[in-house]
Amino acid sequence: MSAIDFKRLTSHCKEYGFIFQSSEIYDGLAAVYDYGPNGVELKKNIESYWWKSMVQMHDNIVGIDAAIFMHPKVWKASGHVDAFNDPLVDNKDSKKRYRADQLIEGYCEKIEAKIKKDVDKAAKRFGDAFDEKQFRETNQRIIDRQAKIDAAMNSMNSFLKEEDMEGLKNLIEELEIACPESGSRNWTEVRQFNLMFSTQLGNIAGEEGKLYLRPETAQGIFTNFLNVQKTSRQKVPFGIAQIGKAFRNEIIARQFTFRMREFHQMEMQFFVRPGEDEKWYDYWKNTRLAWHKAIGSPAEKLRFHDHDNLAHYANAALDIEFEFPFGFRELEGIHSRTDFDLKSHQELSGRKIQYFDPEINENYVPYVVETSIGLDRMILAQMANALQDETVPDADGKESTRTVLKLHPSLSPNKCAILPLLKNHEGLVNMGKDVFNNFKKSFNTIYDEKDAIGRRYRRQDAIGTPFCLTIDHQSLEDQTVTLRNRDDLSQVRISVEEAKAKVKANIEFPL
Ligand code: GAP
Repeated sequence: MSAIDFKRLTSHCKEYGFIFQSSEIYDGLAAVYDYGPNGVELKKNIESYWWKSMVQMHDNIVGIDAAIFMHPKVWKASGHVDAFNDPLVDNKDSKKRYRADQLIEGYCEKIEAKIKKDVDKAAKRFGDAFDEKQFRETNQRIIDRQAKIDAAMNSMNSFLKEEDMEGLKNLIEELEIACPESGSRNWTEVRQFNLMFSTQLGNIAGEEGKLYLRPETAQGIFTNFLNVQKTSRQKVPFGIAQIGKAFRNEIIARQFTFRMREFHQMEMQFFVRPGEDEKWYDYWKNTRLAWHKAIGSPAEKLRFHDHDNLAHYANAALDIEFEFPFGFRELEGIHSRTDFDLKSHQELSGRKIQYFDPEINENYVPYVVETSIGLDRMILAQMANALQDETVPDADGKESTRTVLKLHPSLSPNKCAILPLLKNHEGLVNMGKDVFNNFKKSFNTIYDEKDAIGRRYRRQDAIGTPFCLTIDHQSLEDQTVTLRNRDDLSQVRISVEEAKAKVKANIEFPL
């Protein structure tokens, strides 16, 4: 079994109808993507898994679906108008624009790649006796390179924290970072660029009518806090969950659906008593990590990463990182947002946004622990984890390679493929269609009669279908069928109803 590189992953997503570039016939729109027939099913399944785990499985979490447009003051109160910025720098020769922090991170990644090369070489040389930790701590070349990375990252983080744009520019020059396009070091000043997209109301001219496309779904939850608390009669601690679109004017469009301009978030704000935020922060970080593992993401591909630079609203924050084909990157954020948002909305709206806690007989503005995951990133993580090349035995006893998408069966776009052995045999085809019509009422089922059976199996493997049901001549005599398991390739001859029960039993979400 071997993992598949990023280029093949992106072409597989296109070839098998998972993800397409938006507006491709016009050469595409950067960092905007469409989901195809298989992609949309995978997306709905992940949404369902999240919604069921967060809302249905928690008596104290309820859902909402707020509008994308909100009153412009929302974004003033939330801090996004003033602080939702990226530090940008242009190269004067190539006219290309970059995020200053990503240029510096790219510099560090290059050094890290050199370290990794040395480590891999040494591992090969020393074999089983190789101790990577010891090697990293004692090899002088690695120590020097690691020191360069640490110094660059520390300086960058402190400039970002202080919003010191001149410091960032000097650092880029000091590190002699060149434009990847032109190769020159002819940089403009670094300046802050707001990431929110804006549009204009039709009936109000000027600033007054300026609307933003929400950059996070969370604010729809904060502004509805009292509506939801009163109508659902929830008591603190309780949560409000939402799935919806968010928009960010990302400057760097790369890494496929990892960084998009229009994407989906699945967010939950958990409202707690002031002083209990730390306890709930711990609870949610562990609960969310367990959610990822339950759906099949291997423990070694997941890790926590504490934030060095806290967002304007947080007193603690971490990322759950996943090892994508291009390295460990943020998949989900857990943020302790204090009472920042509710308090800001209270101040700017002039409305009292407080909760009366009957247990302690006190009014207060609740603190908030947020879990926020990008649906599109989760899809990418699942695709990257599931897509594999595997050597399997052929029908004639030889070996061949298959490409298989080992998604958790609850996430697979189709749960079972119905395959009559021959397409020109009326009896086989009729029975196939009967089984298809029977199964499709219970779960997503696909019917396929084209090509040899082996090729049909491979097609289903490539889109992650966990079961294939084959109808042959014996099926017409005794109503039994063959059910093939995608992962272990086992085949069992059972009745149609037994096959249906077996598929059903295997496609539940791990709740
Ligand atoms: N409400 C908090 C918030 O929005 P964030 O860390 O900026 O926090 C949360 O975003 C999650 O949204 C990220 O962990 C990531 O999965 C997803 N996300 C953020 N920006 C994205 C983008 N440009 N494209 C795709 N997903 C994105």
